[in-house]
Amino acid sequence: MITLALSKGRIFDDTLPLLRAANIEVLDNPETSRKLILDTNQPGVRVVLVRASDVPTYVENGGADLGITGRDTLIEHGGQGMYQPLDLQIAKCRISVAVRADFDYERAVKQGSRLRVATKYVAIAREFFAAKGVHVDLIKLYGSMELAPLTGLADAIVDLVSTGNTLKANHLVEVERIMDISSRLVVNQASLKLKQAPIRALIDAFAKAVAERS
Ligand code: PRP
Ligand code: MG
Repeated sequence: MITLALSKGRIFDDTLPLLRAANIEVLDNPETSRKLILDTNQPGVRVVLVRASDVPTYVENGGADLGITGRDTLIEHGGQGMYQPLDLQIAKCRISVAVRADFDYERAVKQGSRLRVATKYVAIAREFFAAKGVHVDLIKLYGSMELAPLTGLADAIVDLVSTGNTLKANHLVEVERIMDISSRLVVNQASLKLKQAPIRALIDAFAKAVAERS
């Protein structure tokens, strides 16, 4: 049995065509079903639905043989314990710094002010501002980062930007792009040895599908 860990939403939706290219059809729809283990048309392959930030934990510790997770999540988790054979080029977005439209970010940086930065991406934010030589107080949040500058909790946020609609709707502006993000395939190291043939076949089918799309 091969277990693939996915999270609901963009990553799940964008993974379905890749699975199809490997002749795998997921038989349940996570939007309408409450099941967490989804069967596929292949008796030897199943999908487990986990929180996006839990995918690396499942794969690293053998709760799943493979997983698909954003580069953001992988950096925050630390991906050393897993193989990362493939950038799937799906769920593309970026991690940026954003502030209220009336906050003069450039000036604050130039003056060497201490910035209060709210984010789910503490490791990425710490590294980015350290490299810039900007002193920051990091405030860890788990979602809806955009609220922080609006309520006075923080001066800036570090968050994912895709369409930019959430920033716009909350009168925030993107002032720096930190990095581009896409989703990666991650593989448990023991699984790759013990289940080499089926996992290699899956990696190859994904790689071919990714190459054909770009
Ligand atoms: C993500 C991200 C941004 C938004 C970006 O939030 O944290 O808020 O999507 O997308 P956009 O640029 O297309 O508007 P999500 O809705 O996943 O919720 P969360 O931050 O509360 O986890
Ligand atoms: Mg959000």
